[in-house]
Order: sequence, then structure tokens, then C-alpha cells
Amino acid sequence: MASLSALVVFAVSLSFRGVSALPQASATSAALPTGTAVVQGLNYLAQNAGKLYFGTATDNSELNDTAYTSYMENNLHFGQITPENSMKWDATEPEPGTFTFTDGDVIADIAKNYGMYLRGHNLVWYEQLPDWVTANNYNATGLAAVVETHVTTEVAHYKGQVYAWDVINEPLNDNGTFREDVFYDTLGTDYITIALQAARAADPNAKLYINDYNIEYVGEKSTAMQNLVKQLQADNVPIDGIGMESHFIVGEVPTTLVENFQAFADLGIEFAITELDIRMELPETAANLDQQKTDFYTVVNACLQVSVCRGITVWDWTDKYSWVPSTFPGWGAATPFDDNLVEKPAFDGIVIALEGGSI
Ligand code: G3I
Repeated sequence: MASLSALVVFAVSLSFRGVSALPQASATSAALPTGTAVVQGLNYLAQNAGKLYFGTATDNSELNDTAYTSYMENNLHFGQITPENSMKWDATEPEPGTFTFTDGDVIADIAKNYGMYLRGHNLVWYEQLPDWVTANNYNATGLAAVVETHVTTEVAHYKGQVYAWDVINEPLNDNGTFREDVFYDTLGTDYITIALQAARAADPNAKLYINDYNIEYVGEKSTAMQNLVKQLQADNVPIDGIGMESHFIVGEVPTTLVENFQAFADLGIEFAITELDIRMELPETAANLDQQKTDFYTVVNACLQVSVCRGITVWDWTDKYSWVPSTFPGWGAATPFDDNLVEKPAFDGIVIALEGGSI
């Protein structure tokens, strides 16, 4: 990571000019409260607070928006990036053995050019899986080879560029049992072992994560994830970290974040907040935006309380490109910046937490 640190310093010194590139509070958002914090940037503050990064997801379809990219591609603001879709299996191996990394490479190049850590997302997931993986009715030997080839080829392609891979995505049901998808149904938990071992062999320096939701708080799914980690450790299967997705609802952020995070830390692994957003029913109200400020504060502060929480990634940084409204009709406004890229009170909540203040 020495060269990355040097790049970060270089990028930080270069990008001071871009700090005030955002539009000011506009007429469209004037009726609602906006953020007022004046800071050099969230990543700057996160690194000052001892974290590796404050980062964001982004998608290739958003990269023609120059107001968006000029803010994002500023290392003071974001020191880490996650491709929201373009490294997933359907994007990278649409046909057996045919790999396309063009879109993923675009995101990887942004990370390289602006001194950002890159999180690889993701290698084995039941969603955004091309039909052939299921339709070919592989037996255990066949599917093991398919998983190994996919993981090996993709991780090798990005070798040396990825800080951490979400090797396994969302393997658990909410009651803590294993999700019954083509991988589990065919291979049992061996698919997890196969993928982690292949990833380690292909890029020994990348951190290997399992990423999931509803494991951010104390409960049976979190306990099941901890048990999975313990089993992998007992079996000498490489596992370095857990991704806490953290797709929350305003006013319902869990109260047991720190206790739960510490339980993962006690296993001797690291973790990260990988997909943070906090949605509300639309239209936004001043009260909900204020509550959202408190909620972002709570999550960021929880990461600061546990040293092996490496960093925080928002699942895109502006409401303009959030996945929420299309998935939860009537809901949205889940990110720290509004549709016009104006800072919301949530931005201030993040800043207060990163600066060690309280709400
Ligand atoms: O690629 C097609 C494109 O060809 C087509 O024209 C377009 C028409 O709608 O659809 C495109 O695919 C969409 C894809 O995003 C790329 O934009 C899918 O319909 C859409 O379902 C997909 O949504 C993504 C979702 O994962 C899929 O489950 C979201 O952008 C992405 O934010 C979301 O991210 C997931 C994480 O990977 C895992 N954790 C949960 C998180 C939120 O669901």
C-alpha cells in the first residue's frame, strides 16, 4: 500500500482546486434544509480519524455527468470506489469462459487515477448471475470448476488493483440459514471455500470479504455470519473481512451497531461499511432530513468506535443515482447529497461524526 499512500498524497495536493466545485443550495432544494458544514472533504476527515477511506459506489452510466464526476474524482471527498454493477458476474462472464472487463476497467482506472482504494464487487452472488450458470445444470464437479474459473480469471485480471473483494455476496437468509441458490444447492458451503481459496491464489494481497445485509446489528443473522467466519478459520480457509451493507431506514438505524461490530472484531478480522444509505418515504420532510442527519452520524460514529472498521462506503453519494427509488417505489432520498448534488443535513451528520463531535 506504500505506493497507494504516495498517490493519495499526490492526488490530495492536486485536488484542492476542486473543493468548491459543487453547486450552492439551489432553488429546487431551498424549501428543505441543506447541509452547512464547510470541510475539505469526507475522505480527508475519515483518514484524519484513522480510517483508510470514505468512499462511494458508482456506476458506468453515471460517468458522463461531469458535475458528478468532478466532485467524486477528488480524493479529499472520496478515497475509495466500488463499481455498483460492472464487476458482477453477468457483466464480466456473460457466456461460459467469455470474459469482458471493459466497464469494470473504467472504474478501476478511476481508482488508479485519483488514488482511491478499489473494492471489487462482487464475485459469487445469486443475483445478476447470467442464466447459463443455472441453466446448464452443472453437477458439483462442474459447478466447482465454473466458480473457480470465474473467480480466478476476474481476480487475476484486477490483481494488484483491488484493496478488498466481496468474494461471496449475501450467502445467508435473514434467519441465519444458508441461502438456497444454485451454488449452495449444488455444492453446499464448499462453494464458499472454493471461491475464497481461488481468490487468495489469484491475488494474495487482496483482502477477502463476505458481504451481506441485516448483519449490522445483534441478531441471528449476525450470529450465523460469525459462525461462518469461525468455521472458515477452523478450516484454514482465507477470510479477512466482513462487509456490512447497511441499507437502513430513517429513524430505524439499529441500536446495537457497536456491540455487533465488536463481536466481529473479536474474531480477529476486519470489516467495513460497504453500501450505506438511509432511505425515507417521499417526499422528504425537514423532520426526516434532520433524523437522517442523526442516523448517518450514528452509523459513521459506530465505525469510528471499532478500530478494525476500515472505512465507510455510501451506495452512491447523491440521490440522483441512488438505487432506492426504483426498488422501493415511494421511497428515496437515501444519500447525503440531493438530486442537484447539494449537501443535505446528512452530510453534516457524517462530518460531525468524523470530527469526533456529538449530536
Ligand atoms: O444492465 C441492464 C441494462 O442493459 C438495461 O438497459 C437496464 C434497464 O433497466 O437494466 C440494466 O440492469 C440493471 C442494473 O442494475 C444495471 O443498471 C438492473 O435492471 C437493475 O436491477 C440493477 O440494479 C442493481 C441491483 O444491485 C441488482 O440487484 C443496482 O443498480 C445496484 O445498486 C444493486 O446493488 C446491490 C449490491 O450489488 C448488493 N447489495 C444490495 C445492493 C442494492 O440492491
